[in-house]
Order: sequence, then structure tokens, then C-alpha cells
Amino acid sequence: MCGIVGFTGCTQAAPVLLDGLRRLEYRGYDSAGVAVFDGERIEMVKASGSVEHLAELTDGGAKLRGTSGIAHTRWATHGAPTDTNAHPHLSENGRFAVIHNGIVENFAALRAELEGEGYVFASETDTEVVAHLLEKYYDGDLKRTVMRTASRLEGSYVLGVLCADEPGRLFCVKEAGPLILGLGVGENYFASDVTALVSRTKNVIYMDDGEFAELTSEHITVFDRTGREITKTVSHVVWDIEAAEKGGYDHFMMKEIMEQPRAVKSTVEPRIRDGKICFEDFDLSRAELESYNKIVITACGSAYHAGMVGKYVIESLCRIPVECELASELRYRDPIIDGHTLLIVVSQSGETADTIAAMRECMGRGAHCLAIVNVVGSTIARLADSVIYTHAGPEIAVATTKGYTTQLAALYLFAVWAAGLLGRIDEARYAGLVSSIRALPSQVQRAIDLNVHVKYLAERWHELKSLFFIGRNIDYAAAMEGSLKLKEISYIHSEAYAAGELKHGTIALIDEKRLVVALCCQEALFDKMVSNIQEVKARGAKVLGLAPEGNRRIFAEADDVLYVPRGEQLFTALPEMIPLQLFAYYIARENGCDIDKPRNLAKSVTVE
Ligand code: M6R
Repeated sequence: MCGIVGFTGCTQAAPVLLDGLRRLEYRGYDSAGVAVFDGERIEMVKASGSVEHLAELTDGGAKLRGTSGIAHTRWATHGAPTDTNAHPHLSENGRFAVIHNGIVENFAALRAELEGEGYVFASETDTEVVAHLLEKYYDGDLKRTVMRTASRLEGSYVLGVLCADEPGRLFCVKEAGPLILGLGVGENYFASDVTALVSRTKNVIYMDDGEFAELTSEHITVFDRTGREITKTVSHVVWDIEAAEKGGYDHFMMKEIMEQPRAVKSTVEPRIRDGKICFEDFDLSRAELESYNKIVITACGSAYHAGMVGKYVIESLCRIPVECELASELRYRDPIIDGHTLLIVVSQSGETADTIAAMRECMGRGAHCLAIVNVVGSTIARLADSVIYTHAGPEIAVATTKGYTTQLAALYLFAVWAAGLLGRIDEARYAGLVSSIRALPSQVQRAIDLNVHVKYLAERWHELKSLFFIGRNIDYAAAMEGSLKLKEISYIHSEAYAAGELKHGTIALIDEKRLVVALCCQEALFDKMVSNIQEVKARGAKVLGLAPEGNRRIFAEADDVLYVPRGEQLFTALPEMIPLQLFAYYIARENGCDIDKPRNLAKSVTVE
């Protein structure tokens, strides 16, 4: 969740650190802080509120002298988002400053131990124990001190450490959270995400759990848990900083909605050669694929919703049983998973803690793991046996848009590829599905173009207190995502229901104040949806219907209509999501919500 950044070089550190923090703010934004070494001591400024507020307090960093430092933007776990609880945290003697992303699970025991030894705590955070441990163990050897401190910690901790007795040297530690090192010329960096680094360097090192690094302006040295120096591969980031900027849009979310035709194309096109689907980074033989008696898809949030769509599509085409389960549930079950299970893990960030834990649980039972991931070099991508990168480019808005639609595109590619390999579809069907996948980017563009009146609908409906999204089959899976999109950025209560299930209880909530968004894109089930629409209209609800372009009957049933471009029925969830994303966006905008940084949320949920 939180964002951390570190810099050591020959120029003033604080402006560089603030720039990094601005790009990491999507990870957490309830407070922020920066600490630099000014040649004698550690100078620190931290406050609740945004990075912009921190920038005002420090005059854009100009007030803080010093050429090495660390900075943090917080998503609170332990302790309210106050000035005192903001990071960095100082040791009692002020010689150490520490920033942390994660949760120190044994902090209560450590705090009691340290308090027993006379250390006085200033904050309610779990992180402060780290600062005091550093002070306690410091014997003039910073590397040994960091190792000793880390060995006392349980849980997840990505740390950045600044020490006033070691000018120009920074340490960072990775355990269960993202950490990337950036290699500059005469300056070096660490950060939670490459977006914080690309304006200064594209040469990066992805750290693995248990590793830690020492940074000076000239060198980066990486060590394993035992302190042995190790050699790491330097990777090159392929996208430019413009990809992580708003590019003239008011919000990243709108920019990312508009980028979807290109993003989906980037997922699809490199995987289709001469009419055949092939994956550069993933291959299974027919015998291997046949050896799996089921597929388990696991993920969280929107990625789970993509997995739900994937379940329908893969089962329909491949005739292999597919279970789709929330990672936060799967990780604490005793699942029936073995070497005959193909596990598909879906994650935009590749860093979601629950997803990683579920993945480890299933891989430990012998499952082969295929990860569908956007962020190159992320933890999930590196842990998996095989990867399909979605290549959506950086996604900054907390509410995922292109992250989700490119996950769908990757799942469609997988489903058609597997069905072809297993011989479950004939050549003509295979060719038809491949060309339907290739048509998705232009369908997405058409969905954007068709729905110029979504803004007008949002103006009309933005004062709603509660609404329902209903659908059947794939439309039900899409309804879950449409509902989440709306509630997470507009704070309006909304629920997704399988349309046929309403009458088993929830219909009691339907009255004339309710809007029901009815997803009717599965044409074989259109008449069934009409019955459900009539049920809710009979109880006074207003209906916003989504139907394939050209469907005239929907006008007789719904009060308002959004059209979805026609295409392969199995793939409707993808173009169908575009008007729902726009609907959520415009409602949130009407209501004056902070669209890119909705309350209580963070982009990447790296804690449990
Ligand atoms: O990075 P991941 O795809 O693993 O993230 C999973 C969820 O946290 C994420 O999809 C979340 O639900 C989004 N805020 C939805 O917009």
C-alpha cells in the first residue's frame, strides 16, 4: 500500500523525493513525509494530508538541504493518519530515520521489549519499533545493524533506512512488498514502483524477498538474507514518463479509460501470428494441458471479476471445470488442489498480498501457476511458473479500467488457445474467435464513441443513494465489476445480483427510488432479462438497460439505454464495461469525489 522512495546523489535530495512521492501517491495518500541528511543531522518534515501539502511545507523540497534522503506516502494500518503517525520515524537519538511499507506483525511484543529497556515511543505505528531497533543494535556497522534489525521482524516489511552516522549511504530491505532499485549516473534510487523512477532512470533492478541493498551515489550492492553479496540482473523499463502522466485529462481514470483501445491491442496483437495464438512467455503441450482436471482462478477485486468472466469463457470453450475464488478466501482454506490443477492468478499490480499468499498455498500443493499480470517484474510475475503480461502500461488511477479490460483480453486469448490445443473447437470456430479477439480494440473504441450521452445520464442519476446491477451469466460477472467501479469512486451504495436471484430476497429493497442497471448483452438470455426488468419496474424502479447495438426491444423495457457494440457473445464483458466505467466516472465527478484517489483505498493492496 504505502509508497516509499529513496535517493542518494550529488544534488538536493528533497525535490527528487517529492517528485517520486507524487508518482507514488496512488499507493496511499493519507499522510506523507521526507527525511534528508543535511551533513550533520537528519532533517525531517511530515504531515497528514497529501504530498502537495508536504511540498508546500517544504517549499517544494527547497527548505531541506542534503543530498540523500528517504520519503513516504502512507495508507494507514496502525494508528490514525496523523502528523505523528506519518513516516519517516526517527530513532530516539535522532540518528536513524526509517520508512516502511507493510505490517510488522510482532510489533506489540517488540514495543513492549523496547519500552522495557527505556525507549520512548512517539507514535502508534508498528514502524517505530524498527527505528528503535536500529538505534539499539548500531555498532558502527550499518549493514550488520540492518540485518540484525530485520531478523527481529515478522510480517511484511519493505524498509528504507537513513543513518546520520553514515553520510550518503542508504539501505533498503525487501520482505513481502514491492521494491525496485534505480541506477542513475552519479545518483541511485529505490522505490515501491518504477513510476517513481522513470523520469530519472530506466535502468532498474527488481528485488526479491529476503534481499536488501546498500546504495551510495556511485554504487548499488545487493545482499541476500545472510549478507552475502549477490549479482542481480539490470532490466530496462520500456515505457516513457508520459505514460504515467495525465496527458491533458482531468483525471488518470479518464485517461486510462480512453487508452483502452490501444491497451487491449497491446495485449492481443503480439500474441496472434498468422491467425494463431501463441504466447512468447508461456507454453504448454497438449499432453500437459490434458493432465489438468480443473482450472482454479484466483484474484482480488476487479481482477477477481475478470476471473469470473474467464470462468464462463474457459468452461464454455474448453469444457474444463473452472473454479474462480477470492484469493483472501482461498488462502485460508484447505483447497483440493494438486499437480493436476492449473492455477491462473490474475493481478494488475502483481503485488496484491492475498493473491500472492493464495498462489503460494496452491503452488505448494503442486499446482502449475500461470499469472496474468500487468506490472513487469512484479512479485507475482516472478513467482509464477508462466506469465502472460497484459502490457496495459502503467495504471495510476486507483479504480482499475484498462487493467481489467486487458485481463479479460488475456483470458480470452488463453481460452481460445487452450480450446484449440485440446481440439474442443474446430478450425472455423477457432478462426472466428481469433478474429473476434482482434476486433476487440475497435469495439472498445466504438463503445467509447457510442456513449456520448453517459455524461448526461450521470447528471440525471448522480443523487441516487443506492442502486443495483443485474445480469445473467457473463453479464452477471460484468455487473459485479460495474457495481464495484461505481461504489469505489462515487461512494454510492450499489450491489450486483444475478438477475434471477433478486426474487429470492433482494427484491424487497426495490422501490421507486431505486435505479436498476440491467445488463442484457447475452442475447440468448434476453427474454429472461426482460422478465427481471418487468419485475423491478412493477415495483417502481427505474431501469437503465445495456444491450447490443441495434436491439430495439430494449427501448420498450428500459427507461434509458446504453448500447454496446456487437461482437462475439462470449466476449461481451469487455466492450460492455466501457459505458459502465464512464457512468461511474461521470457520477463521481458530478458528486465532486476525488476520482483518482477515492477515500480509504490504495491502488496496490500489499497488506492483508
Ligand atoms: O493489482 P491487483 O489486480 O491484484 O488488485 C486487485 C484489487 O485490489 C483491485 O482490482 C481493486 O479491486 C481495484 N481498486 C478495483 O478498481
